[in-house]
Amino acid sequence: MILALETSCDDTCAAVVSQGGEIRSNVISSQGVHDRYGGVVPEVASRHHLELVNAVVDDALRQADAGLDDVEVVAVTRGPGLVGALLVGVQTAKGLAAARRLPLAAVDHLHGHVAANFLAPPFDPPFLCLIASGGHTLLCRVEDEARYEVLGRTLDDAAGEAYDKVAKLLGLGYPGGPWIDSLALHGNPHAVPFAFSQIKTKVHLGGKVPRTKAAKTAPIAALDPHFLFSFSGIKTAVLRYVELHNLRPEAEARREALFTGPDAPARPTIEQALATCDPTTLDLIASFQYAVIGDLMKKTFAAAESLGATRILVTGGVAANRELRSRFTTEANRRDLDLAFPTLALSTDNAAMIAAAAWPRFQAGEFADTELTANPSLALGA
Ligand code: KG4
Ligand code: ZN
Repeated sequence: MILALETSCDDTCAAVVSQGGEIRSNVISSQGVHDRYGGVVPEVASRHHLELVNAVVDDALRQADAGLDDVEVVAVTRGPGLVGALLVGVQTAKGLAAARRLPLAAVDHLHGHVAANFLAPPFDPPFLCLIASGGHTLLCRVEDEARYEVLGRTLDDAAGEAYDKVAKLLGLGYPGGPWIDSLALHGNPHAVPFAFSQIKTKVHLGGKVPRTKAAKTAPIAALDPHFLFSFSGIKTAVLRYVELHNLRPEAEARREALFTGPDAPARPTIEQALATCDPTTLDLIASFQYAVIGDLMKKTFAAAESLGATRILVTGGVAANRELRSRFTTEANRRDLDLAFPTLALSTDNAAMIAAAAWPRFQAGEFADTELTANPSLALGA
């Protein structure tokens, strides 16, 4: 039985998973305190992890009907993520492992997103994998449970980050994805034709690596430019559209009505948000989402074609998106490809996926030592 912890961003997560991938419990405590800021405030996130982590671990054990005596391995996310947030999980896991003399497994968060699919019923490798989350947008080939080859990734913002920034700009809550997912249903996706220009890194940068946070964590020189993403441009295009159509005052009023004002509801609903949106805003939201998903699809299916891959997995928080699921499914059917998504609960951050990623390491006897520390800029395959 594995007890796993995940605290890389704003969700405090613990799970108990038993041999064979059976999820005994999967507790996720979303902090909810970042809504009013329109994003995660790292110090606030760390403090909340500290306050919540013990209760979340207790809950995970209780729901699994297990005690610490039943646990055989402690697994924890060591990176990438927010350093202060990661440290809370790492220190807690080290404390539990030391107190109980249990082996400790350190997991890369991105392996976790892939491994969400090794849980029952498993989608087995080899497959092509798109990870689209708040921190990462990555295409990789997964050969087996431990071998990943990075094919492409974002040069700047992650897809989920674009969702979060656009939502913030429009006065919606954090994380932005679920708000945009629901509101997009009410707009015209073809109203604003956002264009993604082809990314020619060599031409743009003269062969130099861009000085972005994403580029520092993994080299891009060896990657095919057709499989590189860039989401900072569409964010700017949305900003320009907002200014051109004078949507800012409405967005400010929306933030106040839904989150920061004296009459803001404790938990604003989609209906309440919808009531504050005029057709121009709804069309903008739908068009933004249509463009982002179109770009994710274009590059994923191009990679599948180029590799001759017949199996595709889409995972990470953005994979929870309804339009993404339906459009990827239609296209995969058209091309006669096998497509899989984790369940909704396993798409966004959770600790069961960390346990799933730890399992092959546990079997191979690969354990972390007592010196384990967080690595906020861990890069997949590095
Ligand atoms: O995987 P995840 O929970 O955390 C990271 O590793 O980043 O992904 C969170 C991201 C956020 O940017 C959030 O806005 C996005 O996933 N997200 C969605 C949806 N649900 C969460 N994006 C689009 N549609 C959704 N339904
Ligand atoms: Zn994640």
